[in-house]
Amino acid sequence: MKVAATMLGVPVRRLAGKIVAALRPEAPRESRFVALPAIRPAALPAGYAERQANALSIDGMMSDFSMQVMDAVLTHQAARGLTGHVLEFGVWKGRSASILSAHIRDGERFILCDVGQYLTEQVLAKFYARPEFVQAGSSEFTTYVDVAPLRGSVRFAHVDSSHAYRDTLAEMALVDEILAPDGVACFDDFTNLNYAQILPAMFKYLFTTGTDLTFFLVTNDKGYLCRRPSFEAYATFVLRQLIDEMRMRGNADAMIARTDMDPEYRAFYLRPRGEGETGDHYGPSLYAANYEVP
Ligand SMILES: C[S@@+](CC[C@H](N)C(=O)[O-])C[C@H]1O[C@@H](n2cnc3c(N)ncnc32)[C@H](O)[C@@H]1O
Repeated sequence: MKVAATMLGVPVRRLAGKIVAALRPEAPRESRFVALPAIRPAALPAGYAERQANALSIDGMMSDFSMQVMDAVLTHQAARGLTGHVLEFGVWKGRSASILSAHIRDGERFILCDVGQYLTEQVLAKFYARPEFVQAGSSEFTTYVDVAPLRGSVRFAHVDSSHAYRDTLAEMALVDEILAPDGVACFDDFTNLNYAQILPAMFKYLFTTGTDLTFFLVTNDKGYLCRRPSFEAYATFVLRQLIDEMRMRGNADAMIARTDMDPEYRAFYLRPRGEGETGDHYGPSLYAANYEVP
């Protein structure tokens, strides 16, 4: 057996492992869904100001800037008529989840996953949609949740959990498995060097697995990824619309930078305008061509 195993090439061994795993009878899955108190979801607010005030009334780490961007991306998905499930890893007391909850439509699942359940009835009453809650680490998610119905059908995933290297790698793989063709995955603290391990974990996954995930937008807090065939649509949205969307959400100070357009990396950076900076684009005299096409 040992000799046979060493004779097999790595891809063949992987395939053999997958076949053995597929043939193994599945053990019954222990449920980690937590029953939450029943609440009547609030009506969808007409405007963003109410959504932001609602989120700010909930304890949490998400900044106004991040709320504005995330809300704009979710609104853009609605404008394009995209449907699918919405998932969050790392919920804490529910601030970011409250923003997500305002964008859930009929027939879509809204799944929250955290190692602890910190949502109160008071907070749940502020949500605009009722979530399913899975109390587990993100790396155990597939142990407790049947991902088959989610595969290829999650339109927005927000990852804000442990930020550990291995967890981030596993979260990238899971997101890759379940993200819809037009979906967006948003990873928090992407450029927070207190969690410097997030960067190598994400780029290792992106450049060693053959995935079609790619960054289309980064901010000081979060990195937004889509699938390569969807890049043009999301990049067009960022380039042509996002600054206005930020203004409509009360932020007249956002600007875009793109200083390279390599086929392997051409994401935009959206950030607050620095002191003395004017206009919507960074370095237009040097990089004008980078702002002409997505
Ligand atoms: C920064 S907080 C999330 C903040 C929340 N997204 C917000 O914007 O208000 C991080 C959360 O991740 C949870 N967490 C830590 N490790 C985790 C893991 N491996 N899987 C899922 N959640 C985890 C923590 O319990 C905590 O509630």
